[in-house]
Amino acid sequence: MNKRYLPIGMVCGLLVLVLVGNFARQAPSNELPVRVRLENKGGSVIFTHIRHVQYVQTMGKDCMVCHHDTPATKATPLPCGTCHAPEFNAIFTNGHQKALPKTTCTQCHHAELGTVKYDHEAHANGYASACTDCHHGPEIEAEPQSCKNCHGATTEGTTRTLRQAVHERCQSCHGDMYDQKLAGCSSCHNFLPGTAEAKQPACVSCHYESDAIPLPTRMDSFHGQCMECHAQAGKGPFGDKSCKRCHTR
Ligand code: HEC
Ligand code: HEC
Ligand code: HEC
Ligand code: HEC
Ligand code: HEC
Ligand code: HEC
Ligand code: HEC
Ligand code: HEC
Ligand code: HEC
Ligand code: HEC
Repeated sequence: MNKRYLPIGMVCGLLVLVLVGNFARQAPSNELPVRVRLENKGGSVIFTHIRHVQYVQTMGKDCMVCHHDTPATKATPLPCGTCHAPEFNAIFTNGHQKALPKTTCTQCHHAELGTVKYDHEAHANGYASACTDCHHGPEIEAEPQSCKNCHGATTEGTTRTLRQAVHERCQSCHGDMYDQKLAGCSSCHNFLPGTAEAKQPACVSCHYESDAIPLPTRMDSFHGQCMECHAQAGKGPFGDKSCKRCHTR
């Protein structure tokens, strides 16, 4: 190599070193916790994070196996407890809107009600035989009017909510749509994707009690994820008698 190029070569070399150094610092492998200590009522759990990353890599999988909220390339995933609260009680409901990052809202609040596709004209003139198939008679409604005038978001005395009242009427002819549960709702409702806006519909407004899909709590999510994999791999602690292999006092 010509001696003239030596200083240039050294500068380039240094630059490369600096770049590689920076890259390595940003790369997940440098920020990975070696062990994670999880304190809880069952006795603390010492989780050997680094060994598990190796196990997962030998299975040909990545961080998403456990950190399912985060793209595999992101170095600092959210702690599980950010979303999996110990209980989804009033404390969680009131506190989480401010505590959680805005980017997480739509993972849970994933849908909102849009417009209803419903042809009132066709129903009033043919599909139904009389206005009173849906509207009350003069004992309650002097003239047919909007159900919203009397049926609101919450029950008042014995008066049904708008959802209950209208659905009960529609169901008398469209039972088939309701039999399909959530999949049938879109026969009438246009769903919109959820947004991070402050006003969120309660999960039970769509996920009726009977077919509600609750998010696993913090304990259930850990037990589920840790033990499901151990059971599948036939290695690592799982089952009723394994408690003390994870929970140390
Ligand atoms: C076998 C499951 C598992 C795998 C695989 C895994 N992690 Fe984790 N990781 C955890 C658990 C559990 C925690 C503790 C989370 C908590 O405390 O809520 C954690 C914590 C972390 C933390 C610390 C977060 C904090 O806020 O303190 C980082 C960073 C992290 N993991 C990165 C990664 C990366 C990057 C990968 C992939 C190379 C990876 N993890 C693979 C289960 C796993
Ligand atoms: C950003 C919020 C968020 C974070 C952070 C998060 N989860 Fe979840 N998790 C959810 C949501 C939402 C669901 C239910 C919807 C679904 O199945 O995708 C869920 C479902 C689950 C389930 C049941 C379904 C399945 O995938 O098997 C387990 C187990 C679970 N999470 C474990 C964990 C663990 C362990 C961590 C931390 C390493 C974690 N989660 C971090 C939001 C989160
Ligand atoms: C299949 C059920 C059904 C039938 C049959 C029906 N309606 Fe309605 N009607 C509704 C519903 C549901 C609403 C409420 C729409 C809303 O509030 O968004 C409504 C609303 C109305 C309104 C208020 C509209 C407004 O914008 O305030 C009038 C007026 C009305 N109906 C008249 C009639 C008359 C007259 C008949 C008979 C010729 C009739 N409807 C037949 C279901 C029906
Ligand atoms: C003027 C007020 C008013 C309007 C408008 C009204 N409701 Fe009602 N609705 C009532 C009251 C009051 C009751 C009786 C509450 C109770 O059972 O104690 C009732 C009861 C009901 C019931 C249960 C009892 C029954 O009659 O089957 C259904 C279903 C119902 N309403 C559907 C509707 C629908 C659908 C509309 C619009 C098309 C509508 N209501 C408009 C006041 C109203
Ligand atoms: C008296 C019986 C009756 C009642 C009550 C009734 N419908 Fe219908 N509906 C029909 C008939 C008949 C048709 C046209 C034939 C069909 O498509 O099933 C229809 C069609 C529809 C369709 C179009 C279906 C499609 O396949 O595209 C929608 C949406 C609908 N109704 C919504 C409603 C809503 C919302 C209510 C309650 C406010 C309601 N219906 C109450 C009889 C009824
Ligand atoms: C046959 C048509 C039909 C089907 C099927 C249907 N809905 Fe509705 N739903 C309506 C109508 C009409 C209203 C009254 C909307 C209005 O007047 O603004 C309503 C109202 C509601 C409301 C109350 C909205 C409010 O503003 O308070 C909720 C929540 C809702 N529906 C959820 C569902 C879910 C979840 C499903 C599936 C399990 C479903 N609906 C199936 C027609 C239907
Ligand atoms: C881990 C899932 C999860 C995440 C992430 C989440 N929420 Fe919630 N949110 C819930 C649950 C569960 C409720 C309880 C209400 C229910 O039962 O439907 C709730 C309730 C609410 C309510 C009250 C609704 C009502 O019924 O009065 C608001 C407002 C709300 N969340 C806003 C937010 C905002 C803003 C974010 C993002 C910063 C967010 N949420 C992130 C699960 C979540
Ligand atoms: C506006 C109505 C609506 C609201 C509000 C809503 N969901 Fe859903 N959700 C749906 C629909 C529609 C589906 C899809 C069902 C289907 O396609 O069968 C669904 C699916 C889901 C699934 C996946 C179920 C599966 O089997 O794949 C989960 C988990 C879920 N919702 C959790 C929640 C939670 C938690 C909340 C409250 C924070 C919530 N949802 C609020 C309408 C809603
Ligand atoms: C993706 C699969 C997978 C998940 C998820 C997983 N593990 Fe493991 N774990 C393994 C495998 C495989 C072994 C056995 C390794 C061996 O024997 O070489 C193991 C071994 C262990 C052991 C005994 C050896 C050691 O590393 O200390 C403990 C304790 C353990 N896991 C705890 C946990 C906890 C706590 C969680 C949840 C936070 C978890 N594991 C999640 C795959 C998993
Ligand atoms: C694979 C490891 C593992 C096994 C086996 C295991 N756990 Fe856990 N357990 C965990 C982890 C991880 C957590 C969550 C720690 C946290 O919240 O920081 C936890 C949490 C708990 C909690 C805390 C609940 C709270 O609200 O604080 C209790 C109680 C518990 N486990 C009981 C048990 C019992 C009983 C068994 C045996 C049937 C068992 N665990 C087996 C890993 C395990």
